Amino acid sequence: MKMLVTGGCGFIGANFIKAHLNNFASDTIVNLDALTYAGNPDNLADVAHDPRYTFVCGDIANSALVESLFAEQIFDAVVNFAAESHVDRSIETPQLFLKTNVMGTQSLLHAALNHGVKKFVHISTDEVYGSLGPEGKFTETTPLSPRSPYSASKAAADHLAFAYFNTYHLPVCVTRCSNNYGPYQFPEKLLPLMIANALAGKELPVYGDGMHRREWIYVGDHCRAIELVLENGRPGEIYNIGIDNEIPNLEVIRKLLVLLDRPESLIRHVKDRPGHDRRYAIDASKIARELGWKPFVQFDDGLAATVRWYLDNRSWWEKIISGEYRQYYARMYGNR
Ligand code: NAD
Ligand code: TYD
Repeated sequence: MKMLVTGGCGFIGANFIKAHLNNFASDTIVNLDALTYAGNPDNLADVAHDPRYTFVCGDIANSALVESLFAEQIFDAVVNFAAESHVDRSIETPQLFLKTNVMGTQSLLHAALNHGVKKFVHISTDEVYGSLGPEGKFTETTPLSPRSPYSASKAAADHLAFAYFNTYHLPVCVTRCSNNYGPYQFPEKLLPLMIANALAGKELPVYGDGMHRREWIYVGDHCRAIELVLENGRPGEIYNIGIDNEIPNLEVIRKLLVLLDRPESLIRHVKDRPGHDRRYAIDASKIARELGWKPFVQFDDGLAATVRWYLDNRSWWEKIISGEYRQYYARMYGNR
């Protein structure tokens, strides 16, 4: 299979590309990534010289570029990870989220349709469902009720994906996963930010009362679910992905502090995020039933392995925090 992966220099995309090349010896991957602040080719250093892997620096919202990429080579499948992914940034610059997440997705869907792609997996998020009360879980039929510019842009992209399925019969599947954690997560997201701050003896900024609940899935378990959807997911279907382990943010941070042997006095409650979703919980029974997926990594084990990774790979995130890698990539690829 020849696959186009977008956003492969980000957290989940990089984990996915490495696992796929490892598991499918005869497949080839083209990675289209704009190298925004979140894209880091270092994440794929292991495969950079693999003849089955090609990197293309470019924007998914540049429809001329996307169309020319599809015209040059035949892709059997597309997996679309590329997105602006951080809720706090979406509150500052919503327009960028619309451009990439909505217009970018449409440009990919259109080129995939023009060139007869056999499977298009669009990576969405549980955040499109909005915020839960104390009871219940998101199923694939829960009405969409996004509350941040990020989740609204992801919901719009999901609607476009189904529009291309219903109107043009493009074989699209949409996955909606809970919060991921693991190696190569950019240090603005909760877990890597807290690890970096704790190691530096800095305060850990907890939004509001810290009792917002998330389900935390190890990135490798998410990537295996995407593989199953790619292989056997039914076109036009949504697959929720989650691990049934919802936990309040404060408890996650306390577990991290124990693993890092740092004091709870570092915790600092700060002003809450506007529109902060209170609770997410996923019913993932459909992907288990239809595709046989189940998670392998329990949270406590995955968290310990992730802390170990950040301790063993300090130069990876210290370079990002210092801004050194932005200067390097600006020289290599221009300012983005
Ligand atoms: P990330 O921010 O780490 O990576 C995003 C990647 O997309 C970066 O490499 C960036 O350079 C690239 N990109 C951004 N704009 C682009 C554009 N216009 N053209 C081409 N490339 C562009 O994100 P992530 O955490 O790896 O998330 C990947 C996908 O998974 C996103 O679609 C996100 O909505 C979804 N998702 C993430 C989580 C999570 O917990 N991280 C959970 C569920 C779903
Ligand atoms: P985040 O990693 O941004 O993921 P999302 O908002 O997509 O769920 O945040 C996870 C949770 O942690 C969310 O409830 C917001 C909270 N949070 C903090 O309390 N402090 C922080 O500094 C960050 C980045 C997040």
